[in-house]
Amino acid sequence: MTNFDVHAIRQDFPILSREVRGKPLVYLDNGSSAQKPQVVIDAVTKAYSEEYANVHRGLHFLSNLATDNYEGVRGKIARFLGAKDENEIIYSTGSTFGLNMVASSWLAPRIEAGDEIILTVMEHHANIVPWHFLRERQGAVLKWIDIEPDGSLDPQKVIDAIGPKTKMIAVSHMSNVTGAIVDIKTIATAAREKGVAVCVDGSQSAVHMPVDVVDLGVEFFAITGHKLYGPSGCGATYIKKERLAEMRPFMGGGDMIRDVGKDVITYNDPPHLLEAGTPNIVQMIGLGAAIDYMEGIGWDAITAHEADLTAYAGERLRGANWLNLYGEAPGKGAIYSFTMNGSAHPHDISTIIDQRGVAVRAGHHCAQPLMEHFGVSATCRASFGLYNTREEVDVLMDALELCHELMG
Ligand SMILES: Cc1ncc(COP(=O)(O)O)c(C=O)c1O
Repeated sequence: MTNFDVHAIRQDFPILSREVRGKPLVYLDNGSSAQKPQVVIDAVTKAYSEEYANVHRGLHFLSNLATDNYEGVRGKIARFLGAKDENEIIYSTGSTFGLNMVASSWLAPRIEAGDEIILTVMEHHANIVPWHFLRERQGAVLKWIDIEPDGSLDPQKVIDAIGPKTKMIAVSHMSNVTGAIVDIKTIATAAREKGVAVCVDGSQSAVHMPVDVVDLGVEFFAITGHKLYGPSGCGATYIKKERLAEMRPFMGGGDMIRDVGKDVITYNDPPHLLEAGTPNIVQMIGLGAAIDYMEGIGWDAITAHEADLTAYAGERLRGANWLNLYGEAPGKGAIYSFTMNGSAHPHDISTIIDQRGVAVRAGHHCAQPLMEHFGVSATCRASFGLYNTREEVDVLMDALELCHELMG
């Protein structure tokens, strides 16, 4: 972990020095949304206060400048995800948008009643509901793959489920509930041999590990900017060139057309074909700054720091025999879900530890099939980012002990 000083990193995030309820903020809700470094806040401020105009529209100075700044992020995202061509990056408002776009623009026109979509029980609703639409509207069959007792996903079970009617495998790269990481490459290699497309929800993984979409061999990979230390309302979807050529337009409006007549329209080429209307100009510029920030720290430092946090948090949480942990997959990322023995509901736990300044998420985490698998309606989730510390894990544990004393 050379050159990584977490206390210096924390200085980059203004919100981390604030207090909550008279206590230093311990922000462990990163799986939901991450805090923003000053460079991202500055990039957004500068874009609005000095360099703002609509993009792709004008011939004036500011419009050209805003267009350059906005379009310049496409190449950064392509490099960040290992895509070879920046035109394979479609801007979005987040993973929810990206996954819905894949379902609606690519799969909907080519799915027939009885065709199958393979899903896993650990998907976020954003990677479930768009496929349910195709079940409801077009008679697609959803085939669900269960997870192993330790919370991992056996890639062979996904591969074995592929049949002659399988059209798509929709799978998360990293669970937002358990932190389990999925062996996408093995799944995608087998899927490719059978002519089945793989759509990956990379909302969590892209924050915690380097991603290379070409090496993974997937057709679609969605990310969301606000978890990546960027602004809310931005994200991107990698779409492999061959699939991009097959995409039906998602939304109609400005930018995605070439000519509009009374009886005929001609369309723009991708990526603009799939980016109708005035986009999230400033948010995307902020995402570019966030990617620069993460790359400036470097994956070696980020992954080493987070591996240490994951190990330490796991050790502390497992040490409390009144907690039940959900998902202990080997190599998992920095996310822990748990419940407490006794009468404390996850919502109570979250409310009580909030009094100590500790922010965690409680609920079903938009992953109800996974809650059903675990036989619970909700859990508490502590999810870590690159700025969290071992000391914060200790504050979390002290707050949980207090909660256990009160409600256990
Ligand atoms: C695994 C996963 N997928 C998808 C999403 C949806 O992301 P967004 O709401 O930013 O579109 C989330 C966000 O919680 C997530 O954790």
